[in-house]
Amino acid sequence: LAAMAWGAGAAGVGAAPRPGVPETLRVGTDATYPPMEFMEGDEFRGFDMDLIREIGKRLGAKVVIQNVGWDGLIPGLNNRNYDVVISAMTILPERQEAVDFSDPYFNAGQIIVVRKGDTRVKGPNDLKGKVVAVQINTTGQFASEKIAGVTRIDKYDTTPLAVQAVMQRSADAAVIDLPVAVELVKEYPGQIEFVGKPFTEEYYGIAVRKGRPELLKAINEVLQEIKRDGTYDKIYARWIGR
Ligand code: ARG
Repeated sequence: LAAMAWGAGAAGVGAAPRPGVPETLRVGTDATYPPMEFMEGDEFRGFDMDLIREIGKRLGAKVVIQNVGWDGLIPGLNNRNYDVVISAMTILPERQEAVDFSDPYFNAGQIIVVRKGDTRVKGPNDLKGKVVAVQINTTGQFASEKIAGVTRIDKYDTTPLAVQAVMQRSADAAVIDLPVAVELVKEYPGQIEFVGKPFTEEYYGIAVRKGRPELLKAINEVLQEIKRDGTYDKIYARWIGR
């Protein structure tokens, strides 16, 4: 029995310990973002949650997840509240000044969400003269700021709140990540739709505090394995390819 417990608890029989990997991998996320990260009761669910649990398993680390407001994620990482952030976070040069990112693991662009049947907005240029709702300090906000003539950009703490502002007519459109738009359209059938195709190209990465190159390298190595052996595709099919 003792031998079995030992075998099951470790990274895997014969797996070498990885330098720089903590025993417990503490994870910060803003779990308001289906299907990437969201709460179901007190359980963390979604694509990113499955991915980071798989990464933890392969690193031989116990994964402990904390729910953190979007705006606090990077400060909390740099304050050592957790070891990594996985939160559908787009790799941006500005963010790379504050933290390091893993290799990209997901391609997601910005897309416009409107009330169902609202034919006024067909693309980014039609947001001229409109009120746009976004989650604060996201690439949805940054993309909206680049569109000329937008009347106002209303910044919400979460993406569902930005989309609700559209449904309640306090905004004309929301600019959000494609996978989340697809999910929210399913959650509010008949109320909202997304228009056209994504108009930016972005990649999500896992953020690690600067000065932890071994942890970053270990994460990239297992991420490669997960992509190569078909586990990534299974997680993708579970949350995205439905
Ligand atoms: N991908 C966008 C960005 O990095 C939005 C991510 C929001 N993520 C979340 N869990 N709320 O700015």
